[in-house]
Amino acid sequence: MDVKSMPHEKGLDNTVHALKEGYRYILNRRKSFQSDVFETHLLGQKAICMGGEAAAELFYDTTKFKRAGAAPKRVQKTLLGEKGVQTLDGKAHLHRKEMFMSLMSPQRLDQMNDMLKKHWEAAVEKWAEQEETVLYHEAQKVLFRAACEWAGVPFEEKEVAELAADLGKMIETPTEIGPAHWMGRHDRNQTEKWIENLIEQVRDKELSPPEGTALAVFSWHRDLEGNLLDTHTAAVEVLNIIRPIVAIAIYINFTALAVHEYPAAKEKLTDGDPKQLQAFVQEVRRFYPFFPFQGAIVKKDFTWQGYEFEEGTLTILDIYGTNHDPAIWSNPDVFDPTRFIGWKESPFSFIPQGGGDFLGGHRCAGEWLTIKVMNTCLDYLANRMEYEVPPQDLSYSLNEMPSVPHSEMILKNVRMKNE
Ligand code: HEM
Repeated sequence: MDVKSMPHEKGLDNTVHALKEGYRYILNRRKSFQSDVFETHLLGQKAICMGGEAAAELFYDTTKFKRAGAAPKRVQKTLLGEKGVQTLDGKAHLHRKEMFMSLMSPQRLDQMNDMLKKHWEAAVEKWAEQEETVLYHEAQKVLFRAACEWAGVPFEEKEVAELAADLGKMIETPTEIGPAHWMGRHDRNQTEKWIENLIEQVRDKELSPPEGTALAVFSWHRDLEGNLLDTHTAAVEVLNIIRPIVAIAIYINFTALAVHEYPAAKEKLTDGDPKQLQAFVQEVRRFYPFFPFQGAIVKKDFTWQGYEFEEGTLTILDIYGTNHDPAIWSNPDVFDPTRFIGWKESPFSFIPQGGGDFLGGHRCAGEWLTIKVMNTCLDYLANRMEYEVPPQDLSYSLNEMPSVPHSEMILKNVRMKNE
């Protein structure tokens, strides 16, 4: 095949455009270049941006891309944590990822669901006594309690508000520049110390978390050379469980928003049909912004669709744009859960939590857990609770990453329905 020259965005560095256009940055250029792939300069380096199903399939080919060196330091220090599974490749990645996936058996996911229900229902009793409830922060606290219990991590009730907010900030800050980012870094250091301390206690036999919990598994996990993980890395991985569970609060906020804004779609959920609940959850994950894109590095030179990818080039896959790609989704900017009824699953067309394979690739280890938690919370919000949504600013931005409704969903007169 002839080598073609890749569409190229002018400008010495386009980071400012990327921040300004946010979630739509790559999609906007894919439209204007009429190409699923283009070259630009971001964060002071050459970068290839791409989106769509074929691009996602390419991106998740581990013979072509690697992760080492892909995430900017700023993101590692807050969102990912250095030396975590996200930064590994090849056999070391597979070995670490197997440890993560071992936590996600159907039985363990059912346990998580039971814990979530217990903490959610206890929280609703408190919300019922309050003038108003800010769902985003309250959901973070519920998820924090459930996540810690599920992960075998002890906590004191008086610490919950602060720790849940700290973990929330770690995911809120990585794309911001300046003090907000420093806060994310400070919060990561604090929370890493908290977990490192627990791992030391487990190894000194002063604490014994239940078998099969993340704290137990990660404390005793051995790498391919047979060594225990250093305390810091083990703590990073425990946080790679707790922090993203707390981050499901973002999706719960959007779920509540969708229940409020799309009454016809909500109507279909009233008899609790699992197929309808699942379709609604999938559409929330497709429609609303969460992870904008994901980076990797070209492993060695190759040509794809006539375009040259040079070893060492940062390549960015458009997650949001692939989920809004008109070539994959009809009317992508319309919220329509029915598109997921009878949907033929593809590992590369619907990628809110990454694509491809769980073990062989970097697809999100917590995707099944996220979907299960969202189904349960949707059932509460649509069918099992009563509440009012008073006038408030429910708009959300496509430039803030990650984004939540500006009011963070204020609810009033909350109570469980009498069943
Ligand atoms: C809150 C909703 C979530 C979203 C939107 C999300 C999204 C993502 C994305 C986009 C990736 C990167 C995929 C890639 O590198 O190609 C990822 C990776 C990962 N996620 Fe999630 N995630 C969520 C929840 C969770 C949960 C609940 C857990 C754990 C319980 C989790 C654990 C992980 C881990 C360990 C990885 C790294 C996987 C690897 O590098 O092999 N995530 N997630």
